[in-house]
Parts: sequence; structure tokens; C-alpha cells
Amino acid sequence: SDPDPLQDFCVGDLRASPSINGFPCKSSVSASDFFFSGLRGPLNTSNPNGATVAPANVLTFPGLNTLGISMNNVELAPGGVNPPHSHPRATEAGVVIEGSVFVGFLTTNNTFFSKVINVGEMFVVPRGLVHFQWNVGKGKARLITAFNSQLPGVVVLPNTLFGSVPEIPNAVLTKTFRTDDATVNNLKSKFAV
Ligand code: GLV
Ligand code: MN
Repeated sequence: SDPDPLQDFCVGDLRASPSINGFPCKSSVSASDFFFSGLRGPLNTSNPNGATVAPANVLTFPGLNTLGISMNNVELAPGGVNPPHSHPRATEAGVVIEGSVFVGFLTTNNTFFSKVINVGEMFVVPRGLVHFQWNVGKGKARLITAFNSQLPGVVVLPNTLFGSVPEIPNAVLTKTFRTDDATVNNLKSKFAV
């Protein structure tokens, strides 16, 4: 969903400030600008989610600037969850390359579409919709995801609500979740940055 390019390429100069749209073009380019080795893994998944995402977007791979695409390498420990999140600027497609993964997304009417998929199977998440992946296999799981934006953006719901800087006032969150300060403080303590 990014704009169409007006030239073959425009390798991003990340030292310059981004402007409409993306980064200014680097003046001298070479083959290495169009290759990226950052999706190889393995990734370290020892974190509370048991999940790690390594992005190949314009910020890590500036050759993508103006090309309207990006990818992620996602690794999930057994039981690991890539938590509910959405990408404001892109539709996502993904393929499982190792393990067995419960994938799902929610529509704007709160209908939940989900399925367990295995190696070689693909899924799609329409732009902006909340989705997650959960490793339901015995071993680790790995996925490669792809986006129609050089920088899809990610809104991770728990972090957005309970880990913002500055914090969302407790009065808003206790009312929103029909709960008390202790519960909200407990959640905030887990997502504080
Ligand atoms: C998976 O949902 C990803 O954003 O890579
Ligand atoms: Mn995603």
C-alpha cells in the first residue's frame, strides 16, 4: 500500500531525515545495497513471549526504500506467542518454514479467523487487522512474513496499552477493562519500558 516508485530504486540514506515519502536516495549505490543477510536466524527467544521478530524493513535494509515491500523473520519457542498486534500500513502474508503454528486475525466486527498451519503453508492478514501467532508444536517454530510496505509499523496491543511513555492514566484503563488499580498496576509493571 506504499506509493508507486517513480524510478528503478532509491536506496535510503538513513542519515538524512525521512520526508514524504521515505528517505532521500543515497547518491552512490553498489550491489551490497540490494542484499540483506538479516533473516537467517536463529533468534534468541528467551523472553517473556518466547518470540522474537527480526525485521527486514527500510530501517534495517535501506535498499527497500520506495519499493513498497518488507519482510520479517519470526521465531517462536515451544508455546511462544507473537502477541496480538496490527500493522497500520500493510497487509501481511506469511509462510511457516518450521514447526506448527496457530495463526489468526480478528475483523473489525470481532470475528476471529484462525487455523493451525504447518511447514509450507501460508496465511494472510488484511491490512490493519489485529493478529497473532502461537507455537503449538513440540519444537521451535519459524515463519517468514512479508508486507506491502517498506515500513509496515506495528502496534502491539499490550505494550500500547500498558507500556506507553508517558503512561495512560489508570482511570482510563480501569474503566476500559472494568477492573481495579491493582490489576492495572500489575499489568503496567510487566510492560514498563
Ligand atoms: C507477524 O505477525 C509479523 O508481523 O511478522
Ligand atoms: Mn504481524
